[in-house]
Amino acid sequence: MKTRITELLGIEHPIFQAAMSWASSNSALVIAVSNAGGMGVLAAGPLRIEDFRKVVGEIQAGTQKPWGLNIPLNSSKAKEMLDVAYEARVPVMVASQGGPREHLERFRGIGTKWLHVVASVEHAKKAEAAGVDALVVDGVEAGGHPPPSEVTTLVLVRRVLQEVKLPVVASGGVADGAGIAALLALGADAVQLGTRFIATPEAGVHENYKRAVLQAEVDQTAFVGRGLAPIRQLRNRFAMDYAAAERRGASSAELEALFKTSSLKLAAHDGDVSRGKVEAGQSAGLVHDIVPAGELLLRLVKELEEARERLARL
Ligand SMILES: Cc1cc2nc3c(=O)[nH]c(=O)nc-3n(C[C@H](O)[C@H](O)[C@H](O)COP(=O)(O)O)c2cc1C
Repeated sequence: MKTRITELLGIEHPIFQAAMSWASSNSALVIAVSNAGGMGVLAAGPLRIEDFRKVVGEIQAGTQKPWGLNIPLNSSKAKEMLDVAYEARVPVMVASQGGPREHLERFRGIGTKWLHVVASVEHAKKAEAAGVDALVVDGVEAGGHPPPSEVTTLVLVRRVLQEVKLPVVASGGVADGAGIAALLALGADAVQLGTRFIATPEAGVHENYKRAVLQAEVDQTAFVGRGLAPIRQLRNRFAMDYAAAERRGASSAELEALFKTSSLKLAAHDGDVSRGKVEAGQSAGLVHDIVPAGELLLRLVKELEEARERLARL
């Protein structure tokens, strides 16, 4: 299947494994997905610089195919990480949280394709004006950092496509080939899956985390931190304590302090899925098995073909 994104990035299938701190902060997941013809994306956020350098080297040794790198541009480590990425001539950048403009010329010089993660029409237009090559558009179903506006993927992707000309990777709420087909039908040029890839042996999170994703139903996530930088995570002790504080009218300072008592690391690294931020999307309810990432990618492609055939028969 050829789309503007497969052509731009030189990948076989219009399917991205989303950048996920901890879950995709290792080389194994990225290599498996890219080698299977998708776009594997390394989440650099939680890595120390020396570990980041090592993981980038492992990916370069493990695949000849295009792969992507996510750096949160507002991180204190961003400058150093960008230098490492530049030296490594990273094929694809999937940048988030911060302005891309000042970096584009330098990376364009080494042939890097620059995608920018946005969660609103306003940010999509700004990124287009800055000169990025394509967008990743996150809707409210997404695990991790959904749009504060709480607009769904179905609506936000469509609206962004009305306003910008760039290729769009739709993200949030998809866990199988039928979902991928739906968003391609909507006009997206590729589709990104995060939560689905947590349920793989390669994902770098604690077994308790993977088990929690498998057990979750579609209505068992929580949108935590309205008014801050909100996250979507599985409903657990921490999320319920936070919701109770909101209900009793806690001040924004109290809520912010409470928000900071928990972390993704507590869940992903330590396996505390009760008190940690078990970031995952509504699509957790669609995930029922742990599958090696390369095999999963091929299954998604097969399901996508089946969905297309089904539509063609209607
Ligand atoms: C555990 C987890 C960690 C995430 N970490 C990041 C991150 O470091 N950078 C980023 O841009 N997005 C991050 N995200 C968001 C994903 O890139 C993606 O947008 C989201 O997973 C898509 O929704 P889905 O989970 O419904 O597939 C994270 C998501 C999850 C579930």
